[in-house]
Amino acid sequence: MDKLLIAGGRRLEGEIAISGAKNAALPILCAALLAAEPLVLLNVPQLNDIGTMLKLLAQMGVKVKREGATVILDARELDNPLAPYELVKTMRAAVLVLGPLVARMGHAKVSLPGGCAIGARPVDQHIKGLQAMGAEVHVEHGYIDAKCVKLKGARLFTDMVTVTGTENLMMAACLATGETVIENAAREPEVVDLANCLNAMGAQISGAGTDVIRIRGVDKLHGATYRIMPDRIETGTYLCAAAVTGGSVRLTGTSASYLDIVVDKLMDAGCEITTERDAIALTAPARLKAVSLRTAPYPAFPTDMQAQFMALNCVADGTAMIRETIFENRYMHAVELIRLGADIKIDGNTAVVTGMPKLQGASVMATDLRASASLVIAGLVAEGETLVDRIYHLDRGYERLEEKLGALGASVKRVN
Ligand code: EPZ
Repeated sequence: MDKLLIAGGRRLEGEIAISGAKNAALPILCAALLAAEPLVLLNVPQLNDIGTMLKLLAQMGVKVKREGATVILDARELDNPLAPYELVKTMRAAVLVLGPLVARMGHAKVSLPGGCAIGARPVDQHIKGLQAMGAEVHVEHGYIDAKCVKLKGARLFTDMVTVTGTENLMMAACLATGETVIENAAREPEVVDLANCLNAMGAQISGAGTDVIRIRGVDKLHGATYRIMPDRIETGTYLCAAAVTGGSVRLTGTSASYLDIVVDKLMDAGCEITTERDAIALTAPARLKAVSLRTAPYPAFPTDMQAQFMALNCVADGTAMIRETIFENRYMHAVELIRLGADIKIDGNTAVVTGMPKLQGASVMATDLRASASLVIAGLVAEGETLVDRIYHLDRGYERLEEKLGALGASVKRVN
């Protein structure tokens, strides 16, 4: 099993390019199922999760061609509406084939994703919405079996803000008869990116980015060429890495426009940030100031940046209060950070982090994607060597991480 060996204490300096957004690419790959013509996608990140999704789509009959960051998908002939447990258990986002398959093929058999390290992560809202649109859904033997000859537009209201729930229902509604309204919709930029791609394919979606999305059903969608948006969480992760090392970096192929609150928090911590049309630069102070935060749906502080900011607060001056309101178990990184000498007290969904002047390198274990990013960030600033185990979690969501960190002057080696 691969590990990352990090020698701490080096300032990050220089410039790297940010990749396409994993959480925009995953639903957009599934959107290909809705059309019988090729969908050409640009700026697709080269990540394990993307590879898994392409394997799943190919099993369904989608012709997949990949040249670097360009992916061409042709769903002209679909012959298998099954998303098997073996694939779905490794990547929960596979549930995103559910809506498109029911809309295009009238049938979907998708393994229940099951829980993951950060929480139970049910998909009841996805199912409830499809039922409201006329699908007959049975959940048995660990599979969601959904059937409907033709979905009908409906007024949907999700009980909580759900990103992939909104995305699944928005895709299903594209081919339904009549209009669908999704209330309490997720406003994340990745939802907007999906809506923009669907509209380029001939869908009629308005309101994406607000909490009410209207979709007027059409008979069919056509092919398109679409460029995936930059990954705002990868961007935020590298900004945090530069901040903790007292560094100065410039990230290209990205934008601060989807990271307002993260940029504000980094400035509160004492960083200087300049933004350009498709780049963002950060210069860190000698010592950061602690920053408190509370995660919530977009445009509030993103839960996917919580672990990275916990690492930042471990070496900042002062005490920070962190509140995680989205997932019930998203503090797995805390006990590993404590092994590096951090002072963190967890009480329910609140973490109190008291900054230490130094952390000491140690062996630690990654538990989920963003937790592993926080351990790498802490390792960059810890004294001595840090060995991060189970980094397959990292490979799911960060393209060429050690190469990009190395280009910024970090000493990070992949060992096994
Ligand atoms: C998406 O997950 C992202 N994944 C997650 O990123 C991200 O953390 C999350 O949104 C929140 O922003 C992708 O986009 C592929 P939710 P998703 O449905 O859609 C509850 C990463 O690190 N809920 O918005 O699965 C759920 O349990 C990953 O890249 C229900 O109860 O999250 C959670 O508490 C991690 N029933 C809350 O809602 C449902 O039917 C928000 O979950 C759906 C969700």
